Amino acid sequence: MICDRIILGVDNKEMNLTINIYYTGQNGSAKAFVNEMIAKGIVDQVRNEKGNKRYDYFFPINDPETVLLIDCWENQEALDLHHKSLMMKQIAELREKYHLKMRVEQYTTFSKENQDFETVIRNRTATRKFKNKEVEKEKLNKILEAGRLAPTAKNLQPQKIYVATSREALEKIDKVSPCRYGASTVLVVCSDKKIAWAKDDYSTYEMDACIVATHMMLEATNVGVDNIWIEMFDKQALKKEFGLEDSIEPICLLPIGYKDDEYTGNPLHHVRKELSETVIFV
Ligand SMILES: Cc1cc2nc3c(=O)[nH]c(=O)nc-3n(C[C@H](O)[C@H](O)[C@H](O)COP(=O)(O)O)c2cc1C
Repeated sequence: MICDRIILGVDNKEMNLTINIYYTGQNGSAKAFVNEMIAKGIVDQVRNEKGNKRYDYFFPINDPETVLLIDCWENQEALDLHHKSLMMKQIAELREKYHLKMRVEQYTTFSKENQDFETVIRNRTATRKFKNKEVEKEKLNKILEAGRLAPTAKNLQPQKIYVATSREALEKIDKVSPCRYGASTVLVVCSDKKIAWAKDDYSTYEMDACIVATHMMLEATNVGVDNIWIEMFDKQALKKEFGLEDSIEPICLLPIGYKDDEYTGNPLHHVRKELSETVIFV
């Protein structure tokens, strides 16, 4: 068994401990492992252990031989108790039985508001089910301000952000996209081609707006507002619905709000390539 443990983050009283374990097997053995865990009641019993906040399995679509377990514990003490539990012994035995390789990532998650930067980038994840709760004005302003501070080519600031909160505006969004997911606020991030830096037939209008949107998305996470980046919408139809000038190009939608209690998270969030696959030192 290969066990590669990556410890990220530091001790902190308000933290939760989150652990991602990737079990990889052959010929469906990882899935068989999970099925046996469920059939034996191990999954339910771990969920009932003291201090357990989450114990979920995911099947990454791009890797059929791997299952991802995400478990989250109130504190180190709860995790230590789990490690000494009978359940842990049974899980280890099953893992041996199915000859699974294991890779562990452990990190801390802090309280949702005003997190440190690393926690923000780790906590940001796509939310696809929002509850019917408005985003407080103060938080919305912080999010919009983060967009204002984003860098743009030659500092030309071509972004135009349309904030959809009224029923009428949200209905327009629903007409052009299936991806509002019930959010009470949608930021329609656009870019004015007349303002953006351009040379010949090249323009940074899209790049600029993407940076603005990224700033806003991360600030939303920082102030505890859930969010998602949406590309899937009819851009021409949106322009028509909101009566946008020709030069204003819609780039993305950012539905923001508070995730529904039943939303279990985006399974793809934890499927990230190894650095070696995407980074090339030259
Ligand atoms: C450019 C871009 C376009 C996206 N478009 C959509 C979309 O149209 N609908 C949707 O449900 N999610 C969309 N997403 C969300 C991604 O699926 C999600 O960010 C990705 O699975 C990674 O998961 P994470 O954000 O939870 O880390 C988009 C994300 C990006 C960055």
